[in-house]
This record gives sequence, C-alpha cells and structure tokens, in this order.
Amino acid sequence: MPHLVVLSGAGISAESGIETFRAAEGLWANHPVEAVATPEGWRRDPERVLGFYAERRRQIRSARPNAAHRALAELEGAGFRVTILTQNIDDLHERAGSKDVMHLHGNVMNARSSVDPRLIYPLAEGEEINLGDLCDKGSQLRPHVVWFGEPVLLLDAARELTADADLLLVVGTSLNVMPVAGLIDEVAFHVPRLLVDPRAHEFAPQGVMALSRRAAEGVPLLVDHWRRTRRLTPPDMSAG
Ligand code: APR
Repeated sequence: MPHLVVLSGAGISAESGIETFRAAEGLWANHPVEAVATPEGWRRDPERVLGFYAERRRQIRSARPNAAHRALAELEGAGFRVTILTQNIDDLHERAGSKDVMHLHGNVMNARSSVDPRLIYPLAEGEEINLGDLCDKGSQLRPHVVWFGEPVLLLDAARELTADADLLLVVGTSLNVMPVAGLIDEVAFHVPRLLVDPRAHEFAPQGVMALSRRAAEGVPLLVDHWRRTRRLTPPDMSAG
C-alpha cells in the first residue's frame, strides 16, 4: 500500500477552534511558556499548570475534528497506509477515525506520574487532574504532555516511519521546534514533501512544496487527488 506519513501541528486543529502556539494571539502570547510548559514551572506552581491544561482539555473536549482530520481518516479507509505523527496533544485525529496516530509531544487526555513517565493513566470523560491525585508510586499526577527541556516521545520510531514514507505531508506546523521539525529530513532522497499552511510560501524549507491553504481546504484537495489517481504523487501545484 502507498505509505503516506503526515507530520501535523497546531494549525491542523485551528479550524476546530483550538488555538495555535505562535500566532499573534496564540497560546504563548497569552501564557508564559516557562510557567506552564517546563518542569521548573511545574515544580514552582503545579496548581497553575494543572489549571492551564484543564482549560486546554475543556477546549479540546468541546471541539470537533475538521475536514482535514476527516480526509486523512478517509484516505486510510481507501487503501492507503496513513501514519500520523502529531505534535498535538489533542485527540482529534483519533476522533476523526485515524487508527495510526503517534503523539510525539504527549496527549492531554492522559495523566502521567511525575516520577515514572511509563505510568500513564487515561482520563475518563469529564475527568480532571487535581492536586493530591497520585500515581501508583505516590507522586502527584501531571498532564501527559512533553514540556520544553523534556525528551520527545517515540522519536526513533517516528524517524523510521518517516524514512519509509512514499510521501511526507506536513500540515499546520511552523517547524520551529526540534527535534520533531527535523523529521522532514528523514525521508528517502526521492520522496516528495508537501507543506500545507496558509503561510507555506513564507517558510517552506528548500525542496518542500508549498500549498498555501488552510488545512481544512488544502488537505481534502490533496486527498481527493490521491484517491482519484490511486497514487501518492504531488498534484500540479502551479495553482499554489
Ligand atoms: N490550517 C493550516 N495551518 C494553519 C492554520 C490552518 N487553518 N492556521 C494556522 N496555521 C499554521 C500557522 O501558520 C503556523 O505555521 O499553523 C502553524 C502553527 O505553528 P505553531 O503555533 O508554532 O504550532 P506548532 O508548530 O504545532 O508548535 C510545535 O511547539 O509550543 C510547542 O509543544 C508545542 O507541539 C507544539 C510545538
């Protein structure tokens, strides 16, 4: 089966009403990163951090997958192998029906131990993490999210999958955060790389084709093309 690997970021969920990080009014414009997304911030004020992610969870629970999430899930059902490597901590890819989703920066619908990252606890519908909620080893539960300065999850597996891609589709990420942004260089030499982002023409790296569209517009277009041609080749991009 043709193997599509998708590297997604916050932009793919923007049209589902979830804020991105680096937009003018994005999350990091309104929340000090070091206070809510670092181990130091957690040690200093865990209540504040729990509150920040409770608000994220509330936003995600009231959101719905959009046409981009759905198109990728439909392509998987149409005889293509679709691997989704996401930086997003939301579960919209899974809720759209995608089966093969890898969360490289964690999943906010899970809690995890503060002392043993292998101890992960899925949260029930409506459940929150509160001060005093402990893991099996007696440590305070925290959001299962990768904070700045912490190791990315499953990176080696993500590199291997990317190296096996027939086409790499990058959607809604500013490619600012390493090491995940470096995955775009893990594809085999001849493999096409496409970037879907309204600002793609501004920052598409050398050799990456830019489709300057919103995700919910650009991704269904591409999926239509692949389902019609039954092949993972870039469509004529001259229309941009
Ligand atoms: N469709 C597609 N892309 C969009 C849309 C949209 N509707 N709206 C915005 N974008 C694009 C923006 O142009 C930007 O390039 O999404 C990108 C979002 O970039 P960031 O906010 O930097 O988010 P991301 O790249 O996912 O951040 C990476 O940084 O803060 C950490 O851990 C966090 O996983 C996150 C990582």
